[in-house]
Amino acid sequence: MKRMLSGIKPTGKLTLGNYIGAIREFIKYQDEYEMFIFIANLHAITVPNDPKELRKNTKDLIALYLASGLDPEKVTLFLQSDIHEHAELGWMLTCHSYMGELQRMTQYKDKVAKGEQNLTAGLFTYPCLMAADILLYDADYVPVGIDQKQHVELTRDIAIRFNNRYGETFVVPEPLVTKVGAKIYSLTEPTKKMSKSENDDKSTIYLLDDPKLARKKIMSAVTDSVGIIQYDPENQPGLANLLTIQSALSGEAIDSIVERYQGKGYGELKKEIGATVENFLTELQAKYRDILASGICEKVLANGKEQAQAVAFKKVRKVKKKLGFQIFN
Ligand code: TYM
Repeated sequence: MKRMLSGIKPTGKLTLGNYIGAIREFIKYQDEYEMFIFIANLHAITVPNDPKELRKNTKDLIALYLASGLDPEKVTLFLQSDIHEHAELGWMLTCHSYMGELQRMTQYKDKVAKGEQNLTAGLFTYPCLMAADILLYDADYVPVGIDQKQHVELTRDIAIRFNNRYGETFVVPEPLVTKVGAKIYSLTEPTKKMSKSENDDKSTIYLLDDPKLARKKIMSAVTDSVGIIQYDPENQPGLANLLTIQSALSGEAIDSIVERYQGKGYGELKKEIGATVENFLTELQAKYRDILASGICEKVLANGKEQAQAVAFKKVRKVKKKLGFQIFN
């Protein structure tokens, strides 16, 4: 069975973008692959950290993974900081990455371009930690939204470089990016990504938003003055984004939605999408509350830790040997 691995950072509140671009994909593949899904909490401290919020976001994330349908019987679900090998291999891979390639990572470049001050060294080197997350588990595939694809490509480069230098050590992973919903856009500025860190609350649907409020956000989403319902991301990005959300949540193809709405107005379409989002969140949140109340999260993470630990330990032992750290047999 091929292996798949992915993770989400518990910074900020999870968005509909995280669900459509990532979590939905994990669930789709959980029967087909041996799956490792984790909470990337070491990555969460690359930006200013509030421990109280981090604890809350971490609990929410595990509960939302389960509420969305990840089955702990099929998937190894774990907390990154429980497995010290992530940081250990992260360092070894940092020493096999170049400043130039890290400087080319768009997420870092964007923050520099925006003039953000006091960026941490951890933020700069985090793609090396992400490479370690993936390579520790010999993942064949890594399902991610489009914004993370570049990091998986860097992981491939690092793996190939390491294998060439020291002999076959790592599986070279492939990014898996969904066709519909690899980048869900802001509802108020539909050329920008819908993001956890957005300040404008109307732009983002959070998975734990009041479902009625989420419907209102859809109703007031920015569209255009063309007045024709068609899928044209370049000229009608707001409408294309709404069609994508509807298609991803309902499973109906975008073409078919467009056809049903020929000759109709945006308002009517928004009503349907608003209702879809409201129902989706209502169901998800009911499960989320049950899961939190059941106390199952702690057990799931304890099991996941044990399973992930066994794999990570072996891999780091192999890498240490390759690097010359093991001096006695
Ligand atoms: P993070 O936490 O920013 O995002 C988690 C996942 O959600 C996807 N995503 C989106 N997809 C569609 N539309 C959006 N608006 C949207 N916003 C976010 C992201 O592409 C991602 O798949 N560095 C990673 C976490 C990570 C990781 C890993 C992922 C750490 N180690 C190893 C895979 C494998 C991150 O910050 O994702």
